Amino acid sequence: MTQRILTGVQPTGSLHLGNYLGAIRNWRSFLDSHECLFFIVDLHAITLPQDPGELTASTRRAAAAYIASGMDPQKCSIFVQSHVPQHGELAWVLGCSTPLGWLNRMTQFKDKAGKQKDQASLGLLSYPVLMAADILLYKATHVPVGEDQKQHLELTRDIAQSFNSRFEKEVFIKPEPFIVESVARIMSLRDGTKKMSKSDPSEQSRIHLTDAPDVIYDKIKRAKTDMDLLPGTPEALENRPEARNLLEIFAALSGKTLKETCLHFEGCVFSKLKTELSDLLIAELSPIRLEMEKLEADHGYLDDLLQKGAQKAREIAGETLAEVYATLGFLKAK
Ligand code: TYM
Repeated sequence: MTQRILTGVQPTGSLHLGNYLGAIRNWRSFLDSHECLFFIVDLHAITLPQDPGELTASTRRAAAAYIASGMDPQKCSIFVQSHVPQHGELAWVLGCSTPLGWLNRMTQFKDKAGKQKDQASLGLLSYPVLMAADILLYKATHVPVGEDQKQHLELTRDIAQSFNSRFEKEVFIKPEPFIVESVARIMSLRDGTKKMSKSDPSEQSRIHLTDAPDVIYDKIKRAKTDMDLLPGTPEALENRPEARNLLEIFAALSGKTLKETCLHFEGCVFSKLKTELSDLLIAELSPIRLEMEKLEADHGYLDDLLQKGAQKAREIAGETLAEVYATLGFLKAK
């Protein structure tokens, strides 16, 4: 069986450090061992209102971010979700047998819909069904994501299982989530109990891949801390979410464990950690930012590459959808 990776990011605004450490940076490790499909998730993005011009630019920017972060287009396919019509088609089929109760339980829906559930769109509710379609269309064996997507992956497995059982046929493969625990949840720089997120109204809460060095210095300098000196062990980080977050980011970037990082900063003031952390962030992100700027300026190159990626994706997706339609008993189109 082909070991296949499928994963992606929504093109809403610029990608941030949470997307990078929790997801994109880990994708590279699959390039030589798996068939890799990386897509830009624009159909999901419109579950919340998007500015059309900004959506186009963000889609190209996401493609540039993937390539600049090491996704060598010779070794993987990169495509845009809306370029492959089978995503929407399979989502309809799966939606017809997914109980509403399963969808109402999704924490992301509850968070995004807020108190006015009746005002939330059908798209927001059925978001996880489209995500299941994304994954099942390609019979992906592994899906690298951050911790916030774990529940959606579990739902995908349930949807696959229920379809296979109903038709007594292994049409879908149940995907395994791939989550790197140490970076699965990068937190806001303004509040260590909240996830770093594109939807946070404060720009100071996140580092973008496109931030220049002075912006990175400034955001880290202003990052929330507490009044104590830094501890020598991870155990002492309980109830110190901001210290934990900064130390975890440092550990991820330096290649040290959290334990080694704590030892390194034992008894130090936050400003020492902040200076060293800014240096590491700038060293990691500057080459990516510069490469992204170059790539983003070359629409022709990016659009051709995305078209090639979509062709490949449509081939695989078309085969799976034909199998699904045959299983359902749909009359074959001539
Ligand atoms: P999105 O665009 O919200 O996030 C993209 C990836 O970044 C991870 N991530 C984080 N990881 C650690 N800390 C954070 N603060 C943080 N914020 C985001 C996410 O877990 C994700 O891996 N529903 C998905 C997009 C999607 C998808 C798919 C992914 C649609 N279909 C099929 C994989 C397979 C989403 O909204 O990602």
